[in-house]
Amino acid sequence: MSTRKWTIRACAGLALGLGIGFGVADAGSFGERFGFGTAATPADIAKIDIDVMPDGRGAPPGQGTVDEGMRVYNDKCAACHGADLGGVKGTGAAPLIGGRGTLDSGKPKKTVESYYPYASTLFDFTKRTMPFDAPGTLTDNELYAVVAYILNKGNIIDKSTVMNAKTLAAVKMPNRNGFIFFPGGGGHRPDVRNYR
Ligand code: HEC
Repeated sequence: MSTRKWTIRACAGLALGLGIGFGVADAGSFGERFGFGTAATPADIAKIDIDVMPDGRGAPPGQGTVDEGMRVYNDKCAACHGADLGGVKGTGAAPLIGGRGTLDSGKPKKTVESYYPYASTLFDFTKRTMPFDAPGTLTDNELYAVVAYILNKGNIIDKSTVMNAKTLAAVKMPNRNGFIFFPGGGGHRPDVRNYR
């Protein structure tokens, strides 16, 4: 410990009559080991490193069809999001389709179909959070399938499209050009790195 730190500590103690160092003496302890926890293994990291980017980076292997997705949807999503994908009142589950062209009206209806700029967001969000009552339970094949089903119901992809890492990245969402590029949050969020 440096003499200076002791001096500051002594002065603070004297001035207040408390003898507390205000943490000044701890400033040099960054990077110290505390003797608990274990280093994350690549497998630990892989479990939570599941983000899928618009260009397909991070999309897992696997695939699914619209028909397979219909079965997944009816089994695991329809109770809350509705058989017609319009949402069921009281569940808090949003309509997933519709609303196209309403965003600049007085009554914007934001859905996957009308709002999402990238299909990867649908895959990523669903994998992370849905079904609401059992997140993390769908296989990647089921996820690709249910994504294909929702996009087909939103008239965004053909019924014959097989969804996989490549076709997911190739989907052109209706609102893909509806966002403005706002580098660094216009100077307010220098920690956010935007890119196209
Ligand atoms: C138990 C009810 C429930 C089930 C089952 C469920 N969801 Fe949801 N879902 C919700 C709720 C509630 C929200 C809103 C969550 C929020 O705002 O944080 C939501 C939100 C979503 C959204 C985001 C919608 C938006 O407006 O951006 C998507 C996409 C979605 N769910 C897909 C699915 C899929 C696909 C399934 C089936 C695999 C599913 N959900 C099953 C309740 C459910």
